[in-house]
Amino acid sequence: MSFPASRLRRLRRSEAWRRAVRETGLSPADLVYPLFIVEGDDVRNPVASMPGVEQLSVGQASREAAEVYELGIPAVIVFGVPDDEQKDAEGRAGYDPGGLVPRAISAIRAEAPDLLVWADVCLCEYTSHGHCGVLGPGGEILNDETLDLLAMVALTYARAGADAVAPSDMMDGRVVAIREILDDNRLSHVPIVAYAAKYASAYYGPFRDAAHSTPAFGDRRGYQMDPGNSEEALREVELDIQEGADIVMVKPAGPYLDIIQRVKETFKMPTAAYQVSGEYALIKAAAEKGWVDEERLMMESVLGIKRAGADLVLTYFAKDVARALREGSENSV
Ligand code: PBG
Ligand code: ZN
Repeated sequence: MSFPASRLRRLRRSEAWRRAVRETGLSPADLVYPLFIVEGDDVRNPVASMPGVEQLSVGQASREAAEVYELGIPAVIVFGVPDDEQKDAEGRAGYDPGGLVPRAISAIRAEAPDLLVWADVCLCEYTSHGHCGVLGPGGEILNDETLDLLAMVALTYARAGADAVAPSDMMDGRVVAIREILDDNRLSHVPIVAYAAKYASAYYGPFRDAAHSTPAFGDRRGYQMDPGNSEEALREVELDIQEGADIVMVKPAGPYLDIIQRVKETFKMPTAAYQVSGEYALIKAAAEKGWVDEERLMMESVLGIKRAGADLVLTYFAKDVARALREGSENSV
């Protein structure tokens, strides 16, 4: 039956109707908030390219975590940003049990016991050259030599009490390497959130400011995915699932909604998507110029990621989205 019997506008006439028939909504429970941890006492360093985001010392991070939990957000993901003198070619500071991330995990645990603390596992924050793995003689990133180091980092974070470890390096075989070391150390209950389809993206620019992890030479295209590929994303995700991933992630999110949808439909796994630093910075910058409505764009961008199939969205907007929902803002969905 078509027009005039069918009039789709009937159910759009009021907010009450729109709300009643809306297929996808947002809840604070869908969100994960990233935290950047630095050395020092009472440090809150604004990140210039990410207005509203700060690098936090351990104590400040635990206060922030308590606020995040209060807003109904179930999880944070922590990134260590060590001082330059802690960095070396192998990223050894990454598996120091007294390092930044283990200290942050315990401090957050003490302040917000029921908040899930995910720990990003990579070497780039800890290596002097800024790559996600160890360097070979010709400057290439060695895969299998990197796996042992990543496994050590994951073990260190899990021992410190991380609720999940999240490898973001894109080396082949890292999920099984991490699964094995955790299982061998009575940590078989600790889930792995795998950055499974992570693209070599220009959208990571502001993050590299925040995490001081810009590669000193070259780029990450030899290990992160080529933006033109989607069949390969399914192979990446399938392998990570076979290797023991509990949650699979697509990253970035907004420019890769097709990947999120295919991953969710194909594997029906708990699926996360990372609305990355550049996606955040673009919205912030356009809003600062008065060119877009920041809150509406924020809600629409996160909703789109969820509608594509993400169960969880990692986003720098997490607190703002949760606040807008709590306050029943007119942009709440
Ligand atoms: C590092 C890592 C990156 C991000 C998360 N983990 C950056 C990169 O690969 O260069 C990006 C997050 C963001 O841009 O918000 N392995
Ligand atoms: Zn990395």
